[in-house]
Amino acid sequence: MTNDRRTFIKQSATVAAAVSVFPSIMNAGCIGANERITVALIGCNNQGFSNLQSFLKLPNVVCAAMCDVDRNVLEKRAAEVEKLTGKKPQLFSDFRKVLEQKDIDAVIIGTPDHWHCIPMIYAAEAGKDVYCEKPLGYTIEECNLMVKATHRYKTVVQVGQWQRSDPHWLDAVKYLHAGNLGRIRSVRAWSYVGWKRSIPVVPDEPTPNGVDYDMWLGPRPSRPFNKNRFHASFRWYWDYAGGVMADWGVHMLDYALFGMNQYVPKSISSSGGKYAFPADAMETPDTQMAIYDFGDFGVLWDHTIGINGVQFKRRPHGVAFIGEYGTLIVDRGGWEVMAETTSTSAKEGFVDLPIQKGTGKGLDLHTANFIDCIKTRNKPNCDIEIGAHIARFSHMGNIAYRLGRKIVWDGDKQEFLNDLEANALTKAEYRAPWSLPKV
Ligand SMILES: NC(=O)c1ccc[n+]([C@@H]2O[C@H](COP(=O)([O-])OP(=O)(O)OC[C@H]3O[C@@H](n4cnc5c(N)ncnc54)[C@H](O)[C@@H]3O)[C@@H](O)[C@H]2O)c1
Repeated sequence: MTNDRRTFIKQSATVAAAVSVFPSIMNAGCIGANERITVALIGCNNQGFSNLQSFLKLPNVVCAAMCDVDRNVLEKRAAEVEKLTGKKPQLFSDFRKVLEQKDIDAVIIGTPDHWHCIPMIYAAEAGKDVYCEKPLGYTIEECNLMVKATHRYKTVVQVGQWQRSDPHWLDAVKYLHAGNLGRIRSVRAWSYVGWKRSIPVVPDEPTPNGVDYDMWLGPRPSRPFNKNRFHASFRWYWDYAGGVMADWGVHMLDYALFGMNQYVPKSISSSGGKYAFPADAMETPDTQMAIYDFGDFGVLWDHTIGINGVQFKRRPHGVAFIGEYGTLIVDRGGWEVMAETTSTSAKEGFVDLPIQKGTGKGLDLHTANFIDCIKTRNKPNCDIEIGAHIARFSHMGNIAYRLGRKIVWDGDKQEFLNDLEANALTKAEYRAPWSLPKV
């Protein structure tokens, strides 16, 4: 979006807000309340399309373009948009062409993790605002650069951690920040991906018709097509993503840190492995624990694949804050508090708080918040700093896992302390012609 258009939309939004308070302004011939926002989707298969569907529920949001390197996905999703809106968007296979379209105000990035940074920074450069899927960057270096680009180009960026717009999560944090649980020394965040089976090893095969696989691989190493490493299951391969830790981890760990209001760990250790399916095709661990030490409290990340687990009343994912007087548990369904009863820290009169159910509208509220922020130029609920810090945090867990030892983080220097090996894993090599954008 050009700066002129940004200013125009912001002025319209300001007038719209004033009109709702002083309706007579409307009669004074001011700009109408409903400036249209035009979006484009890059990466249309699963989450990208869910995001777009949510955007299209909003009044005055239109989708002018869709882009995917898999023609089959692109045609299928475009037909669904046409059915929904009556209009077929323009279709592209190269996101750079999308960014040349002057009428597009914002792009939604729903590509795999290794393809977030370059389109996001190019979009910011092109003056578009960005709704970018999580984890924000594929490496710590990418996250840092994406923050820099956001500031340089004054881009409104919403990261896809939609729990940040979901009221019951925020209520739970409010309760914690009021100090209700007494001192908290232990926080657990977990994801038990019970539905997931092992992925059998399969041979490489010819690239399916309609797929530009070289573009799908982009900056990552060239290799023959293998369906295991493609749509959706790319997340189990280090070349493109970071397994459950970087997938579910960013959602849950974000709230672990938000709840504690502390963000800089002192050290990280992690262990685990392919304990469930040692011989299957996944590279990332099906079982992993990571401990982040903050000096006076610790955060434990715990994931498994193929088991739902029965911890914390059969919640397969969640965050638990274990305080002196009780434990607060929050997940996508709601939050509750269970009082300590017989321990030395139990507090008289402190009783259970029954489940406070969520509305299930987190994603819709998150996309709406982004559209509002495009107009007001305010920071979205999950702005770039939040998305970057938690992506860095989960990458730290994976770096400790891959090195098989404890690593120490220097919060001032923003690097691992005297650790060339760990610092090397904060970056990636880019396959030509792609390179890390210069900001
Ligand atoms: N916020 C959430 O709750 C949530 C949930 C699921 C996934 N995600 C995130 O969304 C992202 C996508 O995950 P998914 O499961 O939808 O993946 P997916 O593999 O199903 O879809 C990704 C799509 O991007 C396309 N693509 C790849 N490279 C491209 C390029 N250079 N240009 C255009 N299109 C390209 C692929 O062809 C595919 O259609 C991931 O980063 C994931 O972590 C977020």
